[in-house]
Amino acid sequence: MNVTEAVRTRRSIRHFLDKPVELEVLRTAMETAQYSPSGGNLQPWHAVVLTGEPLDELKSVVAAKLPQGPDGQSPEYEIYPKGLQEPYRTRRFALGEAMYDSLEIPRENKMGRMMQMTRNFQAFDAPVCLFVHTPKNMGPPQWSDMGMWLQSLMLLLVEAGLDSCPQEAWSVYGKEIRETLKLPEDHIFFCGMAIGYRDPDAPVNRFPVPRAPIDEALQFRGFAEL
Ligand SMILES: Cc1cc2nc3c(=O)[nH]c(=O)nc-3n(C[C@H](O)[C@H](O)[C@H](O)COP(=O)(O)O)c2cc1C
Repeated sequence: MNVTEAVRTRRSIRHFLDKPVELEVLRTAMETAQYSPSGGNLQPWHAVVLTGEPLDELKSVVAAKLPQGPDGQSPEYEIYPKGLQEPYRTRRFALGEAMYDSLEIPRENKMGRMMQMTRNFQAFDAPVCLFVHTPKNMGPPQWSDMGMWLQSLMLLLVEAGLDSCPQEAWSVYGKEIRETLKLPEDHIFFCGMAIGYRDPDAPVNRFPVPRAPIDEALQFRGFAEL
């Protein structure tokens, strides 16, 4: 396993095997992920890692709110900007279509799609889920630090034979999460991350998730070869 292989084989897993994860394996990956870079070396990431009963408890607190729909939600932040523009809008749409296609849930089956969305709040049955938080006064630079830490961790998990799915979806139940996990008052909840072993045969873990060619994102200037 090298970095390229870890980056290329990581994917968001939404169907996990019923197989526990050893604490020692998690701690080793997390100790290494501490070496992620952060502006000023603030290391602004914090997380609560749950398995077993405490995870079941949080899931049931959130499950109790689901029937209220959006009225029962208290979002920590806007997950996507309002009026998301191109090309981001199309990318987001394409991901949803590819995922629901793999599950054979057509667009007309609104209830089916919603039920699948709520699988987020079961952490897709992963044995472990971590919940990431940071002080409320941290800004975009520190949020990007959290992202770097998350990616380091996800790659290290791949190296350890594990898989993950980062989950912003949980943030719509930020209040319940902060209360249940007793997060510090002055912290904001960012995202969950389901962790476990992938079911390699599950279609939802197999659909292609294309990436834009680098020339859509990057500009090279001043290179003699150009
Ligand atoms: C910060 C973050 C939050 C995410 N939140 C969710 C989520 O709530 N539910 C979900 O199913 N996928 C979530 N994803 C996964 C993305 O959909 C996924 O990373 C993207 O489609 C690229 O696919 P890949 O991770 O399989 O390569 C999230 C990813 C990131 C980085």
